[in-house]
Amino acid sequence: MKIDTASFLSFAGKTVLVTGSSRNLGLTIAAAFVEAGARVILHGSEANLKTAHAQLIETYAEAELMLSSFDLGDPSAIEAAFDELESKGWMPDVLVNNAAHLGLGDSGFLEQSPDFFREVLEVNLFGAFRCAQLTAQWLQTKGGGAIVNISSLAGHQGIYGRSAYNISKAALDGMTRAMAQELSSFGIRVNSLILGYVWTERWNHLADGVEARRRKNVPSAAPSSQEEIARTVLFLASDSAPTLVGSQVLLDGGMGIQQLPRDIGV
Ligand SMILES: NC(=O)c1ccc[n+]([C@@H]2O[C@H](COP(=O)([O-])OP(=O)(O)OC[C@H]3O[C@@H](n4cnc5c(N)ncnc54)[C@H](OP(=O)(O)O)[C@@H]3O)[C@@H](O)[C@H]2O)c1
Repeated sequence: MKIDTASFLSFAGKTVLVTGSSRNLGLTIAAAFVEAGARVILHGSEANLKTAHAQLIETYAEAELMLSSFDLGDPSAIEAAFDELESKGWMPDVLVNNAAHLGLGDSGFLEQSPDFFREVLEVNLFGAFRCAQLTAQWLQTKGGGAIVNISSLAGHQGIYGRSAYNISKAALDGMTRAMAQELSSFGIRVNSLILGYVWTERWNHLADGVEARRRKNVPSAAPSSQEEIARTVLFLASDSAPTLVGSQVLLDGGMGIQQLPRDIGV
């Protein structure tokens, strides 16, 4: 019996769109797809895209990259961007809905303005929905592909004072299930990754004591690295597990399985 484990994460010949890949986690996910041989569409604000492009080309001189800057809060901008991808032959085989409005600011449930609430939902839910719908309509004609939604433990166990973000991620998880159910018969697999603490450059600027407190909150005593998240996204997007449909993989250092952090456990 022979099982091919060497090539199962190859994305040669595939086109991948990672939303919010102009920096941080999205850029690391994009880099992993480049490493795996894909053509990658980088997405985010124009200024950050230039830097992201330069960073990737420094390591992967031969990388096939396309830059796409559209506001996820603007449905007509999303449609125009997908029209451009189609006309240039860059429609994605794989979509990673990674971009997010983090919902920071005056976002307590009682204080937030309806406009702020709508803004967060526009980006995290409606933007993700429209990108997924346009991608899936294309993939249906091609015979299949994969969509990975990047979610957060905040959708299950809310972060105090971030209700718009919490609600948007809970809704995104519902969307993952609905999409997976309706799209799998077309060969389009939809899965999601639910993240807890993720190491980003913001960890370099935390107030004294905050990092230590965060580490005590998780059984792994460490945030997830962007590289391990990127590897997991590649697995979810690959053809190696064709019946992995609608799964919501918890990659959170064990934060979600504990009743209370061990320091204050009963
Ligand atoms: N970091 C964490 O601890 C953590 C924890 C759990 C889940 N997550 C999830 O992981 C994902 C990535 O998080 P991150 O920390 O890397 O986020 P981040 O640093 O805030 O980056 C967000 C990305 O999304 C883009 N973006 C935001 N709003 C946009 C809009 N309206 N239109 C187009 N692009 C927009 C940004 O582009 P520009 O900056 O170029 O405008 C940027 O590339 C998110 O889905 C987040 O919810 C993160």
